[in-house]
Amino acid sequence: MCGIVAYVGHREACPLVIKGLKRLEYRGYDSAGVALINQHGLSVFKKKGKVVALEHELIGKDIQATIGMGHTRWATHGEPNDANAHPHYSFHRKLAIIHNGIIENYAAIKQALLKKGHTFTSETDTEVLGQFIEDIWENNGGSLEEAVRLALQEVVGAYAIVIMSQTDPTQLIAARKGSPLVIGVGDNEFFLASDATPIVEYTKDVIYLNDYEVAVIKDGQLSVVTLDNTTTTPYVHKVELELEAIEKGGFDHFMLKEIFEQPRSIADSMRGRVKAEEGTLQLGGLRDYLDKLAKSKRIVIIGCGTSWHAGLVAEYIFEELARIPVEVEYASEFRYRNPIIKEGDIVIAISQSGETADTLAAIELAKSKGAIIFGVCNVVGSSIARATHAGAFTHAGPEIGVASTKAFTAQVTVLTLMALAAAHRKGTLSESLFRQLLTELESIPAKVEQVLQAADKIKEIAYIFTYARNFIYLGRGLNFPVALEGALKLKEISYIHAEGYPAAEMKHGPIALIDEDMPVVVIATQDSSYEKVVSNIQEVKARKGRVIAVVTEGDTHLPGMVDFTIEIPRVHDILMPLVSVVPLQLLSYYIAVMRGRNVDQPRNLAKSVTVE
Ligand code: AGP
Ligand code: GLU
Repeated sequence: MCGIVAYVGHREACPLVIKGLKRLEYRGYDSAGVALINQHGLSVFKKKGKVVALEHELIGKDIQATIGMGHTRWATHGEPNDANAHPHYSFHRKLAIIHNGIIENYAAIKQALLKKGHTFTSETDTEVLGQFIEDIWENNGGSLEEAVRLALQEVVGAYAIVIMSQTDPTQLIAARKGSPLVIGVGDNEFFLASDATPIVEYTKDVIYLNDYEVAVIKDGQLSVVTLDNTTTTPYVHKVELELEAIEKGGFDHFMLKEIFEQPRSIADSMRGRVKAEEGTLQLGGLRDYLDKLAKSKRIVIIGCGTSWHAGLVAEYIFEELARIPVEVEYASEFRYRNPIIKEGDIVIAISQSGETADTLAAIELAKSKGAIIFGVCNVVGSSIARATHAGAFTHAGPEIGVASTKAFTAQVTVLTLMALAAAHRKGTLSESLFRQLLTELESIPAKVEQVLQAADKIKEIAYIFTYARNFIYLGRGLNFPVALEGALKLKEISYIHAEGYPAAEMKHGPIALIDEDMPVVVIATQDSSYEKVVSNIQEVKARKGRVIAVVTEGDTHLPGMVDFTIEIPRVHDILMPLVSVVPLQLLSYYIAVMRGRNVDQPRNLAKSVTVE
């Protein structure tokens, strides 16, 4: 969580930092602050609320400076208020710190500092770390960089930090463990940020700081050392991100833009990989490991939230096509059990951001047990992408709306490709079905485009249900995870309580909830379970539930039975989730907008959950 931006060079730092914070606001947005060094020394300005509130706070202040850092917070320790907002001064105000993550042993460090007479102005773990670093710096007589390293050697937890010191207006010190930090290298200028989005308009040269590394920028020079003071040579990557990819491009919200981008993002996730005409499928990142995947005895898929839902879809597809048993686990549960991982088991970790703390920790656990880890990530250079043995990027482009949409369809596409490649190699899939599915995959972007044309109709349905208090989502087979995903989308952005169930499970309990006030969204496409789903709809209608059905185009039966229908084109059963999820994304988007919610930045959430 939280966004970090820092700059040192020849430009005006404050506007640059503020602009960067706005780009990162999706990561956390309960308070924001900046620190600058100029003729007035080291100054900190911070404010509860969004970055605009901070901008108001800055009006009339002398903010001219060529060094600065900023933070947009997602509170873990202490409520969102001005005092808890970052940056935090140290006790003697010799330094200021911003931090993303959690210092788990902050209480013990705080106790020791309290005994020494320190007082604190906030409830945060971050302020404790800042004071701890200053204390070591003052008592050791060494450099600030050394004090940072010594302090971090004592720290348990996760962090990306940036520190500025009163005594050196050319210096930024940054370090990371578990939370992301990217360094942009310009011409006599440096940028630091939680991801590359605030940096790309100035430079495409970036360094991804590794865990336990400290970056010191001083007098226009960058050096990187490990916590035990070994110098490392950072590798400069070229980022491909273009500016327009991280802007709204005429849409009211990033979420809507990202929903409408799906024809392109799904195509991008297959680009260069699928050639239906030639009957070939290549996944570069899997080449050396495809045999292992095809021969695996069991696959364990881990992820959180929407990524976990993509895993549930993949379970059906891998089992169906490659006949490999699959288990799908919440990463957060997996990491706290003693999971059984045997030789020949493959773990697939799915993550849009590539920074989710639970997923990262689950990967480390599985690795320690000897598993081979495949990653399905969207963010290139992210921690999870770097922690896995092999994998495939989803190439959906930056996803900024907190509610995941195009990342889900890209994940499902890539997982489908992985299952197809494994099944083809294993020989569990006939050549004709292999070719047919490749051809069908190539037609998916056009079919998603067709669903998007129904946006206005979905908006009308959303209008009717704007003030519903609850929703049930039902689906069977591959559409069951889609029902879960539809319910999650609605919860996240409209704050309406929603539950997803396998349609047949309804009669085992949730049916008690059905009455004329209960909208039920049913994915009732004409696949192998169509007849059964129709029976489930009848059960709902018999109890006066109001049914919105997602149906296959040309279905003449259901429109007479349900309250509303949304038509989607016919696709192969295996690929159905790629299309059936789209109307559910739109439905939740329009309901949330009509309720006046902040769709891109829903309350209490953050885009990338880098804390446990
Ligand atoms: C999706 O809409 C959510 N905001 C959330 O559940 C998300 O999918 C989850 O936190 C996992 O994130 P990741 O894919 O970046 O690991
Ligand atoms: N733990 C810190 C706090 O509560 C940082 C949270 C964040 O990552 O924004 O202030």
